[in-house]
Amino acid sequence: MISVGILTVSDGAFHGAREDVSGETIRALVAQLPEGVASASAIVPDEQERIAAVLREWSDEKRLNLVLTTGGTGVAPRDVTPEATLSVLEREAPGIAEAMRAISLQYTRMAMLSRGVAGVRGRTLIINLPGSPKAVRECLEYILPTLPHAVNLLVEGPKEH
Ligand code: MTE
Repeated sequence: MISVGILTVSDGAFHGAREDVSGETIRALVAQLPEGVASASAIVPDEQERIAAVLREWSDEKRLNLVLTTGGTGVAPRDVTPEATLSVLEREAPGIAEAMRAISLQYTRMAMLSRGVAGVRGRTLIINLPGSPKAVRECLEYILPTLPHAVNLLVEGPKEH
């Protein structure tokens, strides 16, 4: 089983002003993953400490295999998802973010504006996706086939010394 957490970072969705379509898009794509199970989901406002607190809880206590965030990766003043994520990551996995930006540039040059990061905390892989449902689909469909291997390496690997 691959346990997945879905974290929507959006002031609008948090306050109920908009529906969490991006979170639902992630949920539908995760269901296509062999053994993928959406085990946790949450909506938080664009506040660094709120985001980091959920990431820490889902990694350290729930011990999820994979956490996918959506939103808050751009350059607007309240876009702080990458900073929150970097504050909890132990090791970065830049190739995942590079791959998403590379494939995304084939859809829109706006892709260069996403500052999303990816990496590992404990045995949890954390990946920032951009905010729109369209961007979520374009990014996640591309990286999804690689994720079981990444999770497998994280779970099966010997303990660090
Ligand atoms: N990536 C893909 N694949 N498709 C998109 O439509 N939109 C971009 C970018 N990445 C987009 C994309 C836009 S318009 C922005 S502003 C940034 O993601 C950041 O989005 P966020 O702040 O909602 O995370």
